[in-house]
Amino acid sequence: MPARILDGKRVAEQVTAEVRDAVARRVARGMTAPGLAVVQVGEHAASSIYVRNKRRTTETVGMRSFALDLPATVGERDLLDEIDRLGADPSVNGILVQLPLPPHIAREAVIERIDPAKDVDGFHPYNVGRLALGMPALRPCTPYGCMRLLAETGEALKGKHAVVIGRSTIVGRPMALELLLAHCTVTIAHSATRDLADVVRSGDIVVAAVGKPRFVQGDWIREGAIVIDVGINRNDEGKLVGDVDFDAARERASYITPVPGGVGPMTIATLLANTLHAAELQQREALKAL
Ligand code: GUN
Repeated sequence: MPARILDGKRVAEQVTAEVRDAVARRVARGMTAPGLAVVQVGEHAASSIYVRNKRRTTETVGMRSFALDLPATVGERDLLDEIDRLGADPSVNGILVQLPLPPHIAREAVIERIDPAKDVDGFHPYNVGRLALGMPALRPCTPYGCMRLLAETGEALKGKHAVVIGRSTIVGRPMALELLLAHCTVTIAHSATRDLADVVRSGDIVVAAVGKPRFVQGDWIREGAIVIDVGINRNDEGKLVGDVDFDAARERASYITPVPGGVGPMTIATLLANTLHAAELQQREALKAL
């Protein structure tokens, strides 16, 4: 029987509606709407689409969107000054600097400059460290969104062998930490992994985050495995495809995410949920300081 589809678009709409309701309740109680600043440096084509979607969706849930577009030539020091300014602005609860950055800017320096309490990407070493210690605070959006999709299956994750293909700081590494937190046995596979097909065949859960169109073959998928495809690639015909050969994998998996309409929509929905969470955490801290 072909796999059941994990409909990320539907789940993302549900998460977004929950955030919209929570924002409306806050505003009705006389509190300010949470604010999210999305910073873009330069005009990377794919980034421009993501950034536009993030800003637009922020407004649709009743949050305040602060757009900061800087030229690709901006100096690192000026970018860091802007991040400090957003950090000090109480109407900004979340700060996201879209990656990749131009090569003359050190991404680590930028990420470390963001106030961890406003780091809605969950990329600051403080937030990554907390996740690694099993004490999550603000969690990277894409992996957290994948966990929500895994929850949709209703399957117990405890004890399952999860194979994450990819070790990026945005997806692979935090995804492995999330799965560990859910009591999976976790393998991180990457470009230097030997016998990759066999490693993937041992996975009850396979998360593909490699960035190569249809890289994961159908016969790599164990019968009944849950397949989460994080890849968004354009094939030679200009069509969006994932990292997994969907049609072949679908014949073996129990659940699978489509591309588009799987993990992609979950990332923005989770970003909004993180921004709301950040606003709540900041409010709690402010009350404690009284
Ligand atoms: N570039 C690709 N994905 C992401 C993301 O989740 N956050 C940021 N800041 N940049 C990205």
